[in-house]
Amino acid sequence: MKTSCRGIRDLTSAYDKMVKLFMPESVAIVGASRKPGKIGYVILQNLLESGYKGRIYPVNPHADEILGVKCYPSLKELPEAPDVVIVAVPADKTISVAEEAGEKGAKFLVVITSGFSEVGNVELEKKLVETARKYGMRILGPNIFGIAYAPANLNATFGPPELLPGKIGFITQSGALGIALMGWTVTMGIGLSTIVSIGNMSDLDAIEISEFLAEDPNTAVITIYLEGLKEGRGKEFLEKMSMITKKKPVVIIKAGRSRRGQRAVASHTGSLAGADVVYDAAFRRAGVIRVDTIEELFDVARALAYSPPPLNDKLLIITNGGGAGVMATDATEKYGVELLEVPEDLKERFRKHMPWFGSPHNPVDITGQATDVEYSGSLMEALQDDRVGGVIILVCQTAVLDFKKLAEAILKVVKDAKEKGFSKPVLVSMIGGKEAMDAMMMLEKNHIPTFSIPERAVYAYSQLVKYYFKIRKGR
Ligand code: COA
Repeated sequence: MKTSCRGIRDLTSAYDKMVKLFMPESVAIVGASRKPGKIGYVILQNLLESGYKGRIYPVNPHADEILGVKCYPSLKELPEAPDVVIVAVPADKTISVAEEAGEKGAKFLVVITSGFSEVGNVELEKKLVETARKYGMRILGPNIFGIAYAPANLNATFGPPELLPGKIGFITQSGALGIALMGWTVTMGIGLSTIVSIGNMSDLDAIEISEFLAEDPNTAVITIYLEGLKEGRGKEFLEKMSMITKKKPVVIIKAGRSRRGQRAVASHTGSLAGADVVYDAAFRRAGVIRVDTIEELFDVARALAYSPPPLNDKLLIITNGGGAGVMATDATEKYGVELLEVPEDLKERFRKHMPWFGSPHNPVDITGQATDVEYSGSLMEALQDDRVGGVIILVCQTAVLDFKKLAEAILKVVKDAKEKGFSKPVLVSMIGGKEAMDAMMMLEKNHIPTFSIPERAVYAYSQLVKYYFKIRKGR
């Protein structure tokens, strides 16, 4: 499917229409609670602690102030129309809140409340959507944990307070999983631009949020945990995603592959899990990368978010351990990655960075006595040679190797090479104890993707090649 000018215009206008949801100038929280630990309290606390610079209006008829912020008895009393109204009152009160928000002139409703179509309360959800439409408001939710957008220091969720800023946008249909992953990504050093809970998708869904992220300069990769689309959205998904994936990679984990999983989906968010083969075919046509596990989702996303495009489809592996090299080589066959047949002149250059018993073939084995010096030298040779499309560095822990020094050396070589105009993906897998973990964290924070085992690095690399040489070129 070709990307038309109209398609590009559509994406731009979707961005303009949604920008105030991600970067609101003011946020009201209806149901802001006086009691620590309650959802309406935690959302206000997160908003205040995240460093959000816009205006915050707690709404609760029983309080004058909460957490030191002036509280309003209803939306009517606010001094302005808020861009976003977060709704955290029980389901039976949501319609009157939506009416008030509409009359006030709010733009978006972020409805945290559960108890709608996911439990068969379809009519109430319809009424909520009709009310919002009447006033031209858009709805995120209901049945969500909120929205966070790092560039605006906005954490309007009842998840953990901190978010590690980065370039991966994450849209999730599962709330609990999303909240859990907020904490997990911080621990793993994975930076997110945004996390958006879409829940029942009564109005805004994964397609429209992706349209925004496709145009968002702070997001490099869109990741989605999807259980299913709403009925009748299949064609639009195919059309829009085909356009988006030409611009930015979209990586989806689609739950409900099994029959039992599909039944679980129906009772979770009320969406259509549908036959898995249909989704599989649609993802392929739309250029969406489908993965099976959370680990794969973020492995592929990190590789895509922080790597320049491979120069060609030929990978080079540098290792200090033969076994790790063999495992990575097996993985290249499994995932369809081409290994470079190292030309003689390049072999000669690699030989300068290894003892006589090393191997300049691919994997380039600089042997167990290698230090950061041999790694730096061979990596620079690989980065400066146009026949090498990208590099995976494998490191097994040895007593002669200082992991911290090695991480610093890798960062320096990549930086120096970039300054000389040589830019290609460098993925790193370090196998060892705490020193290896610390070194990987240092690399990760400096945007070099790292992996605990070689196979994961090769898999992520295979998706880089797939994205740049197939999906982006429309093959
Ligand atoms: N306007 C403003 N505030 C109002 C109000 C109104 N019309 N009506 C009630 N309030 C106040 C309440 O007095 C209360 O404040 P208080 O704690 O200081 O007394 C606060 O709003 C919340 O109302 P409350 O009735 O105590 O509701 P709750 O906090 O027990 O539950 C929800 C509200 C939204 C959290 C709950 O209905 C819900 O849906 N929970 C599930 C959320 C969820 O899991 N979502 C999906 C995540 S993935």
